[in-house]
Amino acid sequence: MRGFWLLVHVLGFTLWLGGGIATMVAGVTAKRLGTTERLSAYRLIGVIQRVLVGPGAIAVVLSGIILGQPYMRSGAMPGWVSLMMVAGILGALGVVAISVPTAAKLARLEPQGGQLPEAFHRLRKRQIIAATVAGTFGLIALFAATLGRG
Ligand code: HEM
Repeated sequence: MRGFWLLVHVLGFTLWLGGGIATMVAGVTAKRLGTTERLSAYRLIGVIQRVLVGPGAIAVVLSGIILGQPYMRSGAMPGWVSLMMVAGILGALGVVAISVPTAAKLARLEPQGGQLPEAFHRLRKRQIIAATVAGTFGLIALFAATLGRG
């Protein structure tokens, strides 16, 4: 059973971090597009966040808690596991509470008089900050689970 939860864990952070990088590349590329095309790109980003990144982050935390049971029972938690857990949970909270809902709001925007609507810039800024912070926590967890093991 441990192998199964490890698989869920690895699939989860692949979807989360992979979807996060796809969001970043799509957002930067969309800057070069016209208003309608740029908003269409944000509709796709909304799907990436809702279908891949959100469920991936939830899967990471659920599988991580199950994988962590033996450590919690024994009370001896290696430093790299503690760091992975704290960073992973904080990152997943950022994804679920801010990044995915903001991407959903961006995905619903329509052009106003041929221009980007006013809310676009505010939401985009929020999305950049939330996704960067959440992604950084995800990477800290990844480094802890690999380089941090020594
Ligand atoms: C994006 C966030 C995360 C990443 C990238 C990540 C990465 C990894 C990796 C690569 C492993 C395999 C390590 C190994 O056994 O060689 C692992 C195992 C594990 N992870 Fe995470 N993890 C994340 C979040 C979490 C969270 C949030 C928790 C707990 C709430 C957690 C708990 C665990 C546990 C308990 C193991 C098994 C450790 C062992 O006994 O080998 N992880 N994780």
